[in-house]
Amino acid sequence: MASEGFGYGKVILFGEHFVVHGVPAIAAALGKKTTAKVEDSGRFEVVDNRPETPGYKEGKKEQADEAIMNVLNFMKVDVERTPIKITFEGDLVAASGVGASAAQCASLARALNQHFNLGLDDEGINKAAYEGEKAYHGTPSGIDNTAATYGGIILFTKGDPPKIERISMARPLEIVEGNTGITSDTKEVIADVVKRREESPEEFERIFKRAGEIAQEAKQALADSDAERIGKLMDENQELLRKIGVSCNELEQLIKIAKDNGATGAKLTGTGRGGLMVSLTPGNELQERIAKAIEEAGFQVFRNSIG
Ligand code: MEV
Repeated sequence: MASEGFGYGKVILFGEHFVVHGVPAIAAALGKKTTAKVEDSGRFEVVDNRPETPGYKEGKKEQADEAIMNVLNFMKVDVERTPIKITFEGDLVAASGVGASAAQCASLARALNQHFNLGLDDEGINKAAYEGEKAYHGTPSGIDNTAATYGGIILFTKGDPPKIERISMARPLEIVEGNTGITSDTKEVIADVVKRREESPEEFERIFKRAGEIAQEAKQALADSDAERIGKLMDENQELLRKIGVSCNELEQLIKIAKDNGATGAKLTGTGRGGLMVSLTPGNELQERIAKAIEEAGFQVFRNSIG
């Protein structure tokens, strides 16, 4: 008999990278999911049918294999003794910036939990997904697996246990994401930020302080669904991300298209140096205008809403 589990995709609205250093950050889970199916089999086998940005799955193959082993080991599933076939699917397009790795790990943890009757609650699933994320991120903050496991919008502060505050918005707001098509290596980019911080500790201190204030201000702006304020804070957050060196030309091009066409705010989301740009585009008309402009420039687009 087959067992299924899922993990949500996400968008980081505020505080990626800073969150790794203990600064609060905000992530919103999106409707799109990765699913994992686990079934008994004659041999251990993994089939990855997730839709993807070209090159993503190949580029991340080694990390994905390690992540799967991390989750299996954490959940004490011995695939030599009980061989299984794992199939990943779903409507979340695997790309840098969408939380693809976390969604994969959370979906697997849920499916294994069901298949082997392990009795884990969401907290246990989240812990297992966090172990998997280590293969992709090195030192993950835990924000991605938490968003992938629980869904909703969260203000997240790293810790053991992490601090998770739920945010509910007064009304949903439309967003447009543009995909650079570039797969970035989260481990590498995180390590580079750590190095830069060591080189300029005082400047980074100031940047991290402001990043923390932005996340707190954004929590209220999101609760009020105040698109102007959220947008301004996103722009300011992007300025800080530029300063720590995680943006790139393609992301800047996407941000410019979104802003020139009326987005209230735009920034990179997730690891940066490729991956996705997220822009706030309240109202269907504005959302459509910005999505079309990005498509015309030759980039893949995701239309979504938060809240
Ligand atoms: C990646 O989606 C988000 C980062 O902040 C890494 C992490 O929080 O583990 C770059």
